[in-house]
Amino acid sequence: MKKRVLSGMRPSGKLHLGHLHGVLSNWKRLQDEYECFFFVADWHALTTNYEKPHEIPENIHEMVLDWLAVGIDPAKATLFVQSDIKEHAELHLLLSMITPISWLERNPTYKEQKEQLKEKDLATYGFLGYPVLQAADIIMYKANKVPVGVDQLPHVELTREITRRFNYLYREVFPVPDPLLAEVPKLPGLDGRKMSKSYGNSIFLSDSPEELRKKISTMVTDVERPRKSDPGDPESRCVAFNLHKLYLPEERLKEIIRECREARLGCVACKKELAQAVIDTMSPVWQRRAEFQKDRDTVSRILREGAEKARANARQTMSEVRDALWSRNAESD
Ligand code: TRP
Repeated sequence: MKKRVLSGMRPSGKLHLGHLHGVLSNWKRLQDEYECFFFVADWHALTTNYEKPHEIPENIHEMVLDWLAVGIDPAKATLFVQSDIKEHAELHLLLSMITPISWLERNPTYKEQKEQLKEKDLATYGFLGYPVLQAADIIMYKANKVPVGVDQLPHVELTREITRRFNYLYREVFPVPDPLLAEVPKLPGLDGRKMSKSYGNSIFLSDSPEELRKKISTMVTDVERPRKSDPGDPESRCVAFNLHKLYLPEERLKEIIRECREARLGCVACKKELAQAVIDTMSPVWQRRAEFQKDRDTVSRILREGAEKARANARQTMSEVRDALWSRNAESD
């Protein structure tokens, strides 16, 4: 039997190239090898965005369009929205009964985000319980592997602790899931900082070729090479070259390095070539996005069918959970 993979993303709206190279390309690989469940964590979005819930439905739609555009395939993976499966809320409630507050208070993400998002009041019950809901998401489908970025490792670790505690207190219902860390290529934003929507330095999957050309032309290159006649060092100093490495063939990269070091290739021309390479690679993605966008019902149907499959699994799990808690034979079998 194929092992199970589960992962989720909060609906932040349009995704950027950082999401593609960091997460989605990994999901795409996994969907061929594992039984995959990929979902939109819309309740998780509420933990920090409870003041603007009305933005969430459109963000879900845009994000799922991006998933489909890059080739996440509903024929291979089950795609659904968390709030369509009410069982997550029930399991979250039950897990909250057995999760010590101290485990949640020492969660580094909790401490960091409360500091960083000072403008929002995050001293809420729901925000503290964020990892409990995430644990429910994961074990609901008895996932064996959870592909996440390093920032999410503490959450998966908490899931493992909560799972062990459940299995110990009641009955061995759940496998203890392992995190799955992928090697992620470095992909800085236009200004050299991490690519992030909030920094305004992102290239979105849905940018038009014109937008993409414009953005790439503003991308920071080698700051120690103000003129074309200065020799550059693309491998260690050029921000844009991180993108070159993802979009240009090995052979051409070698030539670019040489031409840049010998001050023969200028940054303007070099970035034009990069923009063209990105456009060529993204064209099929844009085409697929346009196809899915034509008809809003397609995305709704995919999510509805995904929810049906997910729900069947969730119902089965919850019946085992209730059995483990309430059945009088729980101890003897
Ligand atoms: N917390 C994750 C993030 O912000 C999203 C998420 C929610 C998730 N539930 C999950 C990821 C379960 C993996 C598994 O990226």
